[in-house]
Amino acid sequence: MSLIVDTFGRKVEYLRLSVTDRCDFRCVYCMSEDPCFLNREQVLSLEELAWVGQAFTELGVRKIRLTGGEPLVRTDCDQLVKLLGDLPGLSELSMTTNGSRLTKFAEKMRGSGLGRLNISLDTLKPELFTELTRNGKLERVIEGIDAAKAAGFTRIKINAVILRGQNDDEVLDLIEFCRGRELDIAFIEEMPLGIIDERKKSRHCSSEEVKSIISKRYELSVSNKRTGGPARYYTMPGSSIHVGFISPHSNNFCHECNRVRVTVEGRLLLCLGNEHSVDLKAILREFPGDIEKLKTAILDAIKLKPKEHVFGPEGDVQILRFMNATGG
Ligand code: GTP
Ligand code: 5AD
Ligand code: SF4
Repeated sequence: MSLIVDTFGRKVEYLRLSVTDRCDFRCVYCMSEDPCFLNREQVLSLEELAWVGQAFTELGVRKIRLTGGEPLVRTDCDQLVKLLGDLPGLSELSMTTNGSRLTKFAEKMRGSGLGRLNISLDTLKPELFTELTRNGKLERVIEGIDAAKAAGFTRIKINAVILRGQNDDEVLDLIEFCRGRELDIAFIEEMPLGIIDERKKSRHCSSEEVKSIISKRYELSVSNKRTGGPARYYTMPGSSIHVGFISPHSNNFCHECNRVRVTVEGRLLLCLGNEHSVDLKAILREFPGDIEKLKTAILDAIKLKPKEHVFGPEGDVQILRFMNATGG
């Protein structure tokens, strides 16, 4: 039972822990074209990340998801997986990755004790893939997905951010890709982080639109699958895969929020779509290894968790942080 309870009675059982702000891609909805990355001194060390994990699990967090940036560009990521995997009380350790390095790391990660993988894939068109990621190679990601399956990862989830006029004509192709490989898929509404211009607003595509495209071919039935995340899942005839929708604009899920984030700079972010935060790095650096001090800071901080994110249906409220600095 989690001891981290906010002022609205929500229990925090899920930590999203960012291990780097760096990435080998530059996705248009995540990063600026020419990002400025943190230096080594600014980011939490392996030991500090493990202490954060320990403090949260001692307070009752049961699930940790490693995010970034791209977690697998951090060279000591497998050591972190091992350290966190040994924490008593943790029931799930998972990672969200862009898939580009899975051919190299899938087996190692599986061996280190990583449970579930979510892999981003927005398009099956090689040129568009390179345009949306600003330099990625589709082929490598597909090979990475296959490597993850071969390494024994099950329940892999594909994340696809759907953007009007770019990949909204690929919804059914992405579904077929996932049906063929037995992968779950979540369609995501773009969240307005970073610099928002008119172009970004006009490419917003709602989950309802995506659902209606799918409904032309498949009847979707509400599923009771829950991962503790914001996705709402459906099933379809002729396949065991789950199709999810993450709809920060059209279906606010904040009332059942069970998570917080820690950025790679050690900032405890109480909500993705708000600026409330507490600097855990200051405590980590002043009192290295003092788990009790961290726990007290976390319990104090949770009082600041806001009721909901500020992304309106128009997507007009701006959070200046980019997603890679936030920890997807
Ligand atoms: P599982 O439920 O464990 O599979 O993970 P998830 O779907 O919560 O995580 P994933 O890393 O795959 O993220 C998918 C999308 O959901 C990303 O765009 C995240 O930014 C978004 N997301 C995750 N948690 C939150 C949240 O608390 N608030 C908002 N607004 N978006 C979130
Ligand atoms: N809006 C919605 N999803 C985003 N992601 C990154 N930036 C955004 C955004 N602005 C997604 C990625 C990845 C996950 C970590 O977050 O596609 O799957
Ligand atoms: Fe990298 Fe993921 Fe951001 Fe794309 S969405 S730039 S893959 S961190």
